[in-house]
Amino acid sequence: MEKLNGKKKLNVSVLISGRGTNLKSLINFSKKKNSRINICLVITNNKNAKGLNFAIKNNIKYLILNYKNKKKAESKILFNLKRKKINLICLAGFMKILSKRIINKYKGRILNIHPSLLPKYKGLNTHERVIKNKEKYTGCTVHIVNSKLDDGKKILQSKIRIYKKDNEKSLAKRLLKVENKLYPKAVKKFLDTSL
Ligand code: GRF
Repeated sequence: MEKLNGKKKLNVSVLISGRGTNLKSLINFSKKKNSRINICLVITNNKNAKGLNFAIKNNIKYLILNYKNKKKAESKILFNLKRKKINLICLAGFMKILSKRIINKYKGRILNIHPSLLPKYKGLNTHERVIKNKEKYTGCTVHIVNSKLDDGKKILQSKIRIYKKDNEKSLAKRLLKVENKLYPKAVKKFLDTSL
């Protein structure tokens, strides 16, 4: 493992299912001079995930899984995480729920980004629901993954105002930019405080 200022650089795997803007921002962060992370494996359940292009462009190994058989898919995940000596897993729009088998093995070492001010609005369609409920604010949260959905210790959160003219699409677009900034910051905070 490489070392940085006497501290170990961590091998990171990012799990995605789609567009991959959060993967992109984590890759950019990993390239910064003092970054303590090496992204060495991207995993997806979707062979058409646009985000794979960021792995390809940056020469990062990737793994495409057939999730029809979840048990087999997760065995492959575990095998490859071990092979690549992964210390930290970042979920970035990964649309599958990890089973306890993986969560327990990497306890406290799996992070996720969720587009709401957790503990509010766990699950899917967060923007639709916050607008319907006439919320004044929404935001995004990076948290440690535990075996409950969108639960686990918060690392960082960013809040944005919801305007009257906002719809699901405009809100998602504005929040995504905030998410892309928050994720690397949260990884840094996690590394500085927990590892
Ligand atoms: C983000 O909104 C994230 O909060 C959610 O899934 C989306 C992924 O976006 N979990 P991207 O693929 O990183 O662009």
